[in-house]
Amino acid sequence: MLASRLLVLCAYCAAQALGVIFESPPSEILDKNYDIIIIGAGAGGAVMANRLSEDPGTRVLLIEAGGSDFMNLNISAPGLSSTLSRSRFDWNFTTTAQAGLNNRSVPYPRGFVLGGSTAINLMIYNRGTIDDFNRFADVSGDEGWSWARLLPFIFKVDKMTAPTDGHNTTGQFNPALHSTHGIVDISVPGMSLAIDTRGLAASAELSQQFPFNLDYNSGDTIGLSWTQSTIHHGRRVTSATSYLAEAFNRTNLDILVNTRVTRIVPVGNVDGAPDMRGVQFAQTANGGRVP
Ligand SMILES: *[C@@H]1O[C@H](CO)[C@@H](O)[C@H](O)[C@H]1NC(C)=O
Ligand SMILES: *[C@@H]1O[C@H](CO)[C@@H](O)[C@H](O)[C@H]1NC(C)=O
Ligand SMILES: *[C@@H]1O[C@H](CO)[C@@H](O)[C@H](O)[C@H]1NC(C)=O
Ligand SMILES: *[C@@H]1O[C@H](CO)[C@@H](O)[C@H](O)[C@H]1NC(C)=O
Ligand SMILES: *[C@@H]1O[C@H](CO)[C@@H](O)[C@H](O)[C@H]1NC(C)=O
Repeated sequence: MLASRLLVLCAYCAAQALGVIFESPPSEILDKNYDIIIIGAGAGGAVMANRLSEDPGTRVLLIEAGGSDFMNLNISAPGLSSTLSRSRFDWNFTTTAQAGLNNRSVPYPRGFVLGGSTAINLMIYNRGTIDDFNRFADVSGDEGWSWARLLPFIFKVDKMTAPTDGHNTTGQFNPALHSTHGIVDISVPGMSLAIDTRGLAASAELSQQFPFNLDYNSGDTIGLSWTQSTIHHGRRVTSATSYLAEAFNRTNLDILVNTRVTRIVPVGNVDGAPDMRGVQFAQTANGGRVP
């Protein structure tokens, strides 16, 4: 039984090797108890695995259905559609018939690898608008969701880095809106295309209709801007290359890949109600269920 209980450390755990990614569950994982089991290593799961394992006393297991080969994901020119959609990194979902699309079903790519969809997306770094966040605050009655209150946390994520070609980026984004100490590296394009100068020229001539926006991550997204991408030194940045990479060598974090959670199961009873803190899993879509 793979169960999450309040801090049950075994002698083996203390001797555990660093940076372990398990491709299949070794018996020691099955015998272990974790304080926290996280299902899915995408944008949410990888961040949680990093932050929760900062406390060396908290034993964390991260389970991902896809594989571990996120370092091998290429940035490919027309982006996602050419190589990553319908690849071994994609769940290959298709939507239900969409009324607004003349009832067509369309592919709905979702990442199937450490990093999840951050490993197969188009790498555009795009915050919400001031209005979006302030509306969350209004609707929830919690000022903590407002743009002003969230910005310090956005700065913990964001790290503006030099573009691949090292050009002078003055006038291509607003440095005051970015941090230099976040965990996710971003950059403006390392090469420009002929269309870029034409777009900027049009923006200068028709500034009423197509205003130049120095930084579309200011909370005001309207206008023409230089794109900010989750790219660093010509390589894709994902929640695995950032949040997981930082946490890999912690002895209190285990990562199990190629593993689909099939059920949440009780580990006992609390006050007469089932205590749902265990997981059942399989290593292929039709594979045997464990336990
Ligand atoms: C990445 O590109 C290189 C060179 O084009 C190729 O050899 C390699 O197989 C590619 N990797 C993936 C995961 O597509
Ligand atoms: C998605 O489709 C590709 C191409 O057929 C395949 O290689 C891959 O295994 C599929 N993904 C899953 C999660 O089954
Ligand atoms: C889409 O499907 C719905 C339900 O079957 C049907 O009522 C509707 O007429 C269809 N719309 C189009 C544009 O075919
Ligand atoms: C980058 O360009 C700006 C504006 O042209 C200039 O003021 C600045 O000195 C340049 N920075 C470097 C490092 O050359
Ligand atoms: C873990 O990785 C960090 C950053 O790469 C490094 O500073 C630290 O020494 C490593 N710790 C161990 C125990 O290897």
